[in-house]
Amino acid sequence: MTTFEEILNSNKIFEDRNALSPHFVPDLLLYREEELKRMMVALAPIINGKKGKNIFIYGKTGSGKTSSARLVLNRLEPYRSNGIYTFYMNCRVYDSRYKVLQKILSEIKHNFAKSGHSFTLLYEELVDWIENNAKNSDHANPAQNHARHIVILLDEIDLVGDLDSLVYTLTRTNDDLHLRGTLSLIGISNRVNFKSKLDARSISSLCEEELVFQPYNATQLSQILTERCRIAFKPDIVQESAINLASAIAASENGDARYALLLMSRAGELAESQNLQRITDKEVEEARKIADEDKAFEIISTLPEHQKLLLYGLATLVEEIHYKRLIDEVGEKLYSSGEVYERYCSVCKKWGKSTRSSRWFREYIADIESLGIIQTVTSGKGLRGHTTLIKLCYDPAKVKASVEKSS
Ligand SMILES: Nc1ncnc2c1ncn2[C@@H]1O[C@H](COP(=O)(O)OP(=O)(O)OP(=O)(O)O)[C@@H](O)[C@H]1O
Ligand SMILES: [Mg+2]
Repeated sequence: MTTFEEILNSNKIFEDRNALSPHFVPDLLLYREEELKRMMVALAPIINGKKGKNIFIYGKTGSGKTSSARLVLNRLEPYRSNGIYTFYMNCRVYDSRYKVLQKILSEIKHNFAKSGHSFTLLYEELVDWIENNAKNSDHANPAQNHARHIVILLDEIDLVGDLDSLVYTLTRTNDDLHLRGTLSLIGISNRVNFKSKLDARSISSLCEEELVFQPYNATQLSQILTERCRIAFKPDIVQESAINLASAIAASENGDARYALLLMSRAGELAESQNLQRITDKEVEEARKIADEDKAFEIISTLPEHQKLLLYGLATLVEEIHYKRLIDEVGEKLYSSGEVYERYCSVCKKWGKSTRSSRWFREYIADIESLGIIQTVTSGKGLRGHTTLIKLCYDPAKVKASVEKSS
């Protein structure tokens, strides 16, 4: 009989796989000490009951923005007795001024009904809560101030629909509070054009302190990975060269630390499923292939209908026609755009869809190529003159499955 203990003890690769998850907030963030310090300097005044500076953080994906800001919030936790409260908002979920306020109130007032309140009521409740009977203590003993100081972290802030209203309302709160409590904001975005979406007034309120997180280079990524792998894997499982390879790959993908961690996590799962003793370059290479495919299949599933039909047709060609076509460069299967168009038309017919003209077809080809799912080359003068030759970059069976699943 299999026991749970047996299953848990049979794990020879991972010590704590959670350490590689995107939600894990490490205690140690390498190469971000300067940024952490600047954020802490901006917020430190609130510990003494004064107003802090609002912070705006910009940087490419995987550059440690969310982790750094969350770490700063964690470091404020011990100051609860000074009235400090922090709120993390993922604006992918809380994407309007109303939802942000509602979420904060549902956290501070446990039996607060989730819906049906007007915005004004939510706002007044928030201001009252921050003031926290400070008005009474003003008369009795001015030194005894119970006012609260709250920090709201708005992650992926660019996803908020009515962003100007949100920034305006939250920064205006401080005027209504007259220093009986304060509200500070940290906004995070990875969109380059983020500021162009905001009013000049919102920009200057939000960006009192502005930080740009630079992408990590390969050496930095390999230190970050080494540190994390030490927690995630059992001793002597990961080869140093495997870490260096994952770091080099991620450095070439915009220095994205999340991608580097994903590669190591996938490499670990591969080693585990194959009962290997070590994680080598081979597992990292394989992990990269899987990660690449996952990304491609995610893209395919969101393509418009006719581009999917085209890809489906091409995939059936790759599966069925194994002999050498027109040219065969290093064993790659290339198909002429004419035969792909024919196949696309027959797929449309089979699926009961009307076909689009070959002019549209050429546009679809260009679109799908720009997403990296197919590649085209122009053949030299050959059998049929100049022709566009098309190659599918991913496994045809998986492409078909991805189209079928999402249609
Ligand atoms: N300096 C670092 N040290 C250790 N781990 C790091 C560091 N920077 C980032 N990471 C890890 O990389 C992953 C991505 O980091 P994070 O989520 O903070 O990126 P981000 O800049 O917020 O990206 P996005 O713009 O996509 O939200 C996390 O798992 C995080 O723990
Ligand atoms: Mg983030």
